[in-house]
Amino acid sequence: MKATYSVKILFVIMLCLGYCLNFNRVTAQNTSASAIIPIPASINTEKGEFTLTSKTKIVVSDNNLATIETAKYLADQAKILCGLNLSIVTTSKSVKNSIVLNTKASGKKESYHLKVGKKNIVISGADQSGLFYGVQTLLQMISSAAENSPKIVIACADINDEPSFTWRGMHLDVSRHFFPVEFVKKMIDMLAMYKINTFHWHLTDDQGWRIEIKKYPKLTEIGGWRDKTMIGHYTENDQKFDSTRYGGFYTQEQIKDVVTYAQKRYITVVPEIEMPGHAVAALSAYPQFSCTGGSFKTYTKWGVSDDVYCAGKEETFSFLEDILDEVVALFPGQYIHIGGDECPKTRWKACPACQKRIKDEGLKNELELQSYFVKRIEKFIVSKGKKLIGWDEILEGGLPERAAVMSWRGYEGGVEAAHTGHDVVMTPGGYCYFDHYQSQDQTNEPLAFGGFLPLEKVYSFSPVPPELSAEEAKHILGAQANVWTEYIPTEKQAEYMIFPRICAMSEILWSPKAKQDYTQFLSRLNGNLKRLQKAGINYRPLKTN
Ligand code: ACM
Ligand code: ZN
Repeated sequence: MKATYSVKILFVIMLCLGYCLNFNRVTAQNTSASAIIPIPASINTEKGEFTLTSKTKIVVSDNNLATIETAKYLADQAKILCGLNLSIVTTSKSVKNSIVLNTKASGKKESYHLKVGKKNIVISGADQSGLFYGVQTLLQMISSAAENSPKIVIACADINDEPSFTWRGMHLDVSRHFFPVEFVKKMIDMLAMYKINTFHWHLTDDQGWRIEIKKYPKLTEIGGWRDKTMIGHYTENDQKFDSTRYGGFYTQEQIKDVVTYAQKRYITVVPEIEMPGHAVAALSAYPQFSCTGGSFKTYTKWGVSDDVYCAGKEETFSFLEDILDEVVALFPGQYIHIGGDECPKTRWKACPACQKRIKDEGLKNELELQSYFVKRIEKFIVSKGKKLIGWDEILEGGLPERAAVMSWRGYEGGVEAAHTGHDVVMTPGGYCYFDHYQSQDQTNEPLAFGGFLPLEKVYSFSPVPPELSAEEAKHILGAQANVWTEYIPTEKQAEYMIFPRICAMSEILWSPKAKQDYTQFLSRLNGNLKRLQKAGINYRPLKTN
């Protein structure tokens, strides 16, 4: 009788134990690498699991300041994701129940090795950025573990990961609509989460100059503001405007703050200062650098203006070089973007100074005058130790020797540049323009530029076109999403246009092509959306187009 009783109890205990183990296994499977975006290059799921508790320590094993920063970042994020206060210790000794951070991995730049064992997690970066990306991967695993159970159980795994492309970017136009520093930082946080390493900040355009330049204060005092703003679509026959003065700009202190914030997240900020076109905001403040002398008002409608910088006047170049002097000092990255797109030649054709320049320099036409302009600016930028990048129109009339091209009017500009040995960032509108509609039926969508770019189409993007040889393909640095904001007046709407399309872009740019699978991506995305929700992102829900 007693024995039967004991057997029964044993049976119940075994049942409970089995249930718990099974429960943990199911949870751990859910928390494993199957939740990560962008999907890592190589994942081996192993037996067992690591349980994260408030006793887990973050171990900085190399006493390096950057590693300590990343450890703090991990601790802060873990607190947000699962409420645990993980303490940080600096020691080369082994510590039980720990997450060890080091930069001992071999491999290319930005790569990492993440080993989840039963007693420890070890993240080894090939460099500091690789370590940071390993931490991002772990945070995604923690995040989905926290979704599934109050106990943070992470399945053992061995992950080796590296990026496919070195330029993984997102652009944000802050001229057509202005976005404050806090929002820019929020976007930088999200980009870091998805291993995007470049933030292209479109700081100047016809509709607003957004960067303080000490030598020319009127750029922001006058050019930073417009009297009214177009409402409705540019293509409407009866164009409409509000009657609200609109503007804003970043001080140099704010710019430095954003750049430092981004650096800590291994994101390079590429500033864009538009020239020779898209310059009306600047010319409203300093009309003497136009062909006609003005006067001008900061543009209140969208589209392209005929009024551009005068390429004939020497003073135009001094003005732009002074501006670039201040810009170069603020942005430690390699590239300065000078725009170069959509510059009508109407004024240059009628301008005696521009025509004299064409004659004096032995140029054939206004296209070559544009090339003269860009080449001259490029020399200046190179003299400051930087590289020039511009939209694909900088190919017209001849590309400066060392310039890189951002190909937006399709792949063609990028292909031409790569054929001649120039570096390229691919941003063809059909795949990369996040101001395009996400649904064919536009009735329930916010007003947008046009086009149709659903999530699946972003995911089908291939930055390297097949016509390039293997050698030429090396010039494709990567790609980026562009967020033009004519029709994006609010932060909520910007988020709606960016997410989740940026998640698809991140996987295209980071993960090996062989690992890309849209259906599987969607299932991983479902978990990620919860994290976006937690971060207060107004993402577009997954629905049919
Ligand atoms: C562009 O979209 N105008 C570069
Ligand atoms: Zn001129």
